Amino acid sequence: MNRRFSLIDKLVISLDRGLKTLVPGSASPRRSNPADTYGEALLDDSPRHTTGLMRINHTGEVCAQALYHGQALTAKDPAVREAMQHSADEEVDHLAWCEQRLNELGSHTSRLNPAFYAASFTLGALAGTLGDKISLGFVAATEEQVCKHLRDHLTQLPPEDHKSRAILQQMLEDESAHASKAIEAGGQDFAPGIKEVMTLASKVMTRSTYYL
Ligand SMILES: [Fe+2]
Ligand SMILES: [Fe+2]
Repeated sequence: MNRRFSLIDKLVISLDRGLKTLVPGSASPRRSNPADTYGEALLDDSPRHTTGLMRINHTGEVCAQALYHGQALTAKDPAVREAMQHSADEEVDHLAWCEQRLNELGSHTSRLNPAFYAASFTLGALAGTLGDKISLGFVAATEEQVCKHLRDHLTQLPPEDHKSRAILQQMLEDESAHASKAIEAGGQDFAPGIKEVMTLASKVMTRSTYYL
């Protein structure tokens, strides 16, 4: 059944989704963690580089949630709104898996997550107001960006860290499907110039959350 939500309803739902994204331990995945099939390998005592990479990926998922939530708030076509929400639900798995891995590695999620959530939510909501073609194009371009990071991180993980690798590989598969789905649903393929600006913006996130 399709319920019509008032603006207040939507804002309360958005707040609830935001808290579920930002409060540690509150994301509940639907699929089992692909890392669970592997035992913990003997890793370096201080896997700083791996925790930095996994923290970047976790914040990437926080941003993905925020983008989808923002777009769902303003998307015009109900089918697009639903597709955005469906993708956001799938990203919850990624969010929970990355958080679990960071905990296992004895590290923490980024302290900058609330700021990145707020920025991405605003961007998503703006994209939603520009129309579904732009909004879906933005999803596709963002997912392409995420795929690039994931491929790069997969080459940087220690070979014995099968758990982190299993998570990133499953994420890569999902994100690339999200990108194709957004284009198939009518999203615009952005010009390389716009994608370059997005790459620059993503560098701000990756450089800071690696440490913080
Ligand atoms: Fe994701
Ligand atoms: Fe995705």
